[in-house]
Amino acid sequence: MTAILKVAGVSKAFGGVQANRNVSLEVEAGRIVGLIGPNGSGKTTLFSSIVGYHPIDEGSIRFEGQEISRLRVVDIARLGLIRTFQQTRIYGGMTCVENMLISSSQRDARLLDLFQARSPEREERAGDLLDFVGLYPKRKLEAGSLSFGQQKLLEFAMALMNQPKMLMLDEPTAGINPTLINGLIDRLKRANEQFGITLFVIEHNMRVIMNLAEHIYCLAHGELLADGRPEEVQNDPRVLDAYLGAH
Ligand SMILES: Nc1ncnc2c1ncn2[C@@H]1O[C@H](COP(=O)(O)OP(=O)(O)OP(=O)(O)O)[C@@H](O)[C@H]1O
Ligand SMILES: [Mg+2]
Repeated sequence: MTAILKVAGVSKAFGGVQANRNVSLEVEAGRIVGLIGPNGSGKTTLFSSIVGYHPIDEGSIRFEGQEISRLRVVDIARLGLIRTFQQTRIYGGMTCVENMLISSSQRDARLLDLFQARSPEREERAGDLLDFVGLYPKRKLEAGSLSFGQQKLLEFAMALMNQPKMLMLDEPTAGINPTLINGLIDRLKRANEQFGITLFVIEHNMRVIMNLAEHIYCLAHGELLADGRPEEVQNDPRVLDAYLGAH
């Protein structure tokens, strides 16, 4: 197996809160891997650590064999590792296409300027990807006028604009109605199969993650509790306890 991402012994505290403690996990290239765990178990913190959003206290994070734990977000994005956020981060006053064009700023700070970000090739890619997520008819509308679910689809398309090798999605289906969720699952699978993008997905919806992921890690209280195939993790008494104990 070739691990595209290797997290080893990562710890991160915020003041007195130990958000992650000695977390080790691997994501195999080309796979779809899930990350589950009760609220506050440290999932988002781990994603933020991996993409360089904040420094880690201890441990090592390797992407394609390269240590990235001291790199900046833009440098990590440039290597092809991109994340999306639990709350969408789109510009409501800009059109869908404009949001797509500036999304490369994650990858290259010099492209922040929309004027510079325009090129026939990038505009074509933006159109293709908006079509891929089903938003092509809305491409000229302000992103703020989209429904919440559509904004999540736009954010997904924006992440694809950067042509990542690996995409980390923080609760992609949260707030999306059940009928749209199936369409999103289908697109995530197609991004994995057709574009070869490795996916690492935080998800609270068990039906979604069981359907999507080939391997699942479960965090509880900042520590890795269990991992395995979806059916193994789903039936693991420690995982059930963590969820029931959290409510
Ligand atoms: N910037 C921060 N400053 C202080 N504490 C933080 C910060 N970010 C996260 N925490 C704390 O770290 C712990 C883990 O939070 P995190 O957001 O990683 O959990 P999560 O598993 O993503 O939860 P959820 O499922 O609710 O999104 C929580 O106790 C949270 O309050
Ligand atoms: Mg979170």
